[in-house]
Amino acid sequence: MAVKYELLKVCKQTGARRGRLHTPHGVIETPIFMPVGTLATVKAMSPEELKDMNAQIILSNTYHLFLRPGPDIVLEAGGLHSFMNWDRPILTDSGGFQVFSLSNLRKIEEAGVHFRSHLSGEKLFIGPEEAMSIQNSLGADIIMAFDECAPYPADHDYVKNSLERTTRWLERCKIAHQRPHDQALFGIVQGGMYRDLREQSAREIVALDLPGYAIGGLSVGEPKEMMDEVLEYTVPLLPENKPRYLMGVGSPDSLIDGAIRGIDMFDCVLPTRIARNGTCMTSQGRLVIRNAKYKRDFTPLDPACDCYTCRNYTRAYIRHLFSADEIFGLRLTSYHNLYFLLKLMEEVREAIMEDRLLDFRNQFFAQYGLNKD
Ligand code: GUN
Ligand code: ZN
Repeated sequence: MAVKYELLKVCKQTGARRGRLHTPHGVIETPIFMPVGTLATVKAMSPEELKDMNAQIILSNTYHLFLRPGPDIVLEAGGLHSFMNWDRPILTDSGGFQVFSLSNLRKIEEAGVHFRSHLSGEKLFIGPEEAMSIQNSLGADIIMAFDECAPYPADHDYVKNSLERTTRWLERCKIAHQRPHDQALFGIVQGGMYRDLREQSAREIVALDLPGYAIGGLSVGEPKEMMDEVLEYTVPLLPENKPRYLMGVGSPDSLIDGAIRGIDMFDCVLPTRIARNGTCMTSQGRLVIRNAKYKRDFTPLDPACDCYTCRNYTRAYIRHLFSADEIFGLRLTSYHNLYFLLKLMEEVREAIMEDRLLDFRNQFFAQYGLNKD
């Protein structure tokens, strides 16, 4: 088995899990947030900086790397780890989600998805076999099943068809996967916001006996309470001895509430995306650095933060960099936001060990200011 999950402790106050995920490129302490490096780079950050902030694993995307530079180039470089100079674990998403959100003129068939590249307009196709072959070339430690993520809202019939197709595609992924010894294939539970469909999907996906399970189809525009409710009844359907990954979730409140419901892994472009337009996550809530009130503010972004940015630079300086369109500004905010979420997860792990995650949650939410994220 390419990855093995070790459960260390369950928080008595919440049921959250503290664990360890053993992979070919090292051990990941869970629950964990995974920075997103869509195009084989976490935008504006070097691998050295990512290590310096204690990033344990990063995520990259099949869809994007398929279009550019192409899996053959990455394979020739010796795989994604060597191509991008990152020797810690990597997870690649399958393209199932990105092909729906990014490409043009897509047509879903039982075989897979026909689409036009959002870059060149070229006609392309990805199905379960292609998604596995590309991910086998990229060589990530964890690879994802090719799935269909239903939009929100979508009616019961639509979501049922798409989850059943996702199960059939997973069966094909399992057969096509060429590197089960050193790449762990995770299945993805779909089913939208319908309890009976989440139960059906979880039953079908878990029956295929995989090294890990993801919950997809959330954070697609539904209210946060709805996501919490879906997690509440879906997570207990997953086996205790395997890691659970909530896809596309990265706001601080959702990370804490996901961990409380038994999630071990998260990823999201949120921290890096908002950093590039000057929005910072702080212990007091979001801070928009372009705001005129920071012009003469010579304090750090977050006085409670001990990251490289906060130890060395002021709000006034970073605001100046953004006003002048200097790229160092977005490097400083990207570093800070990623550090903020990685540190938050470290605090969550500590709180689980000490059976006080609910207290930590309430304290964090009070400071962060509910409804700010
Ligand atoms: N990223 C966020 N949500 C999803 C999902 O449902 N499926 C996949 N493959 N990736 C995602
Ligand atoms: Zn900081």
